[in-house]
Amino acid sequence: MSYLLRMKLLVLATFLQLLAVIHGIPHSNGFYYNSIDNGNHNINEIYFNGVQLTVQTPSNTIFAYRGSNVTLPCRYRYTPELTTPRKIRVKWSKLRADSTKERDVLVAIGLRHRSFREFKGRVHLRQDAQREVSLVIKDLRLEDYGKYKCEVIDGLEDESGIVELELRGVVFPYQPAHGRYQLNFHDAKKACEEQDAVIASFEQLFRAWEEGLDWCNAGWLLDGTVQYPITLPREPCGGRDMAPGVRSYGERHKNLHRYDVFCFSSSLKGKVYYLRHPDKLQYQEAEQACREDGAEIAKVGQLFAAWKFLDLDQCDAGWLADGSVRYPIAFPRLNCGPPEPGVRSFGFPDKNLQKYGVYCYK
Ligand SMILES: *[C@@H]1O[C@H](CO)[C@@H](O)[C@H](O)[C@H]1NC(C)=O
Repeated sequence: MSYLLRMKLLVLATFLQLLAVIHGIPHSNGFYYNSIDNGNHNINEIYFNGVQLTVQTPSNTIFAYRGSNVTLPCRYRYTPELTTPRKIRVKWSKLRADSTKERDVLVAIGLRHRSFREFKGRVHLRQDAQREVSLVIKDLRLEDYGKYKCEVIDGLEDESGIVELELRGVVFPYQPAHGRYQLNFHDAKKACEEQDAVIASFEQLFRAWEEGLDWCNAGWLLDGTVQYPITLPREPCGGRDMAPGVRSYGERHKNLHRYDVFCFSSSLKGKVYYLRHPDKLQYQEAEQACREDGAEIAKVGQLFAAWKFLDLDQCDAGWLADGSVRYPIAFPRLNCGPPEPGVRSFGFPDKNLQKYGVYCYK
């Protein structure tokens, strides 16, 4: 470029930048004027770029299991392609389900990066391919599902894409020992956590309904609504005339209203098994027997996960940590309950009077 032309462009660029500032012209239309600082701090080099930055993320949902490592793909490019190295910043954040607010996950400049809160030490950037800024999350937790935003910032330009992560899991209705419709929203959240699970989102319940979940008691969901999934319309569950679907009572008062809850769990690191033992046991004996076997008495969420992901199948009722008695059937057969697979429940028998087997977890 000739010196004169360059000067002209410089003046034009400065003038347009000034205009943009005065008129508040957004710079996200893909064409912009930029001061390139490639680390040598040569800020005299102002170029007229006409370059568009694009961020690419997959449009399909990424599925993963609890405890696994997952990569959320993200790449960016310039049109026309630039050959000079660029100094960019990358920011990954997680969108909250209930609002437009975001939580920082990771920010990176060059090779340095910083991660935040529950993601500390569990995330890093993957930059194997050119212009790749994928996010790797290690040791996935139940609450990691959701929408993630990949943001690439190059000078004034700032573009982003969304990646949706969903955990493969199992949704189960939960009702505590003291009976039906006893939990307000906060109790409901806690009840799921005590079963090694989290309160289910609407999307998780909907997916479970698509897979055949049918439950006639209403339960809390993460968004503060109360709903129940019906596959086979029938009289006591809203009537025969209503179409199958997830039926909603809408949002309920989180402190005052009481229902059951839908919990969500995913695959397990450990193993759930029915303890081989010569005798049937009372609850406390059952707890003790698991301990003597180097394990602990299993939680409801763990039994559901083992049934769903490992086809745990045992036609023997056993105690669980919450004092309920259940058994998992992956392959339905005579004398093992209904013709569908499922975790069968005997409710909460008397801990001191009744005797059963036990499910342990280690
Ligand atoms: C996840 O990645 C770490 C290394 O970053 C590795 O040690 C671990 O085994 C991986 N976990 C799984 C489930 O693959």
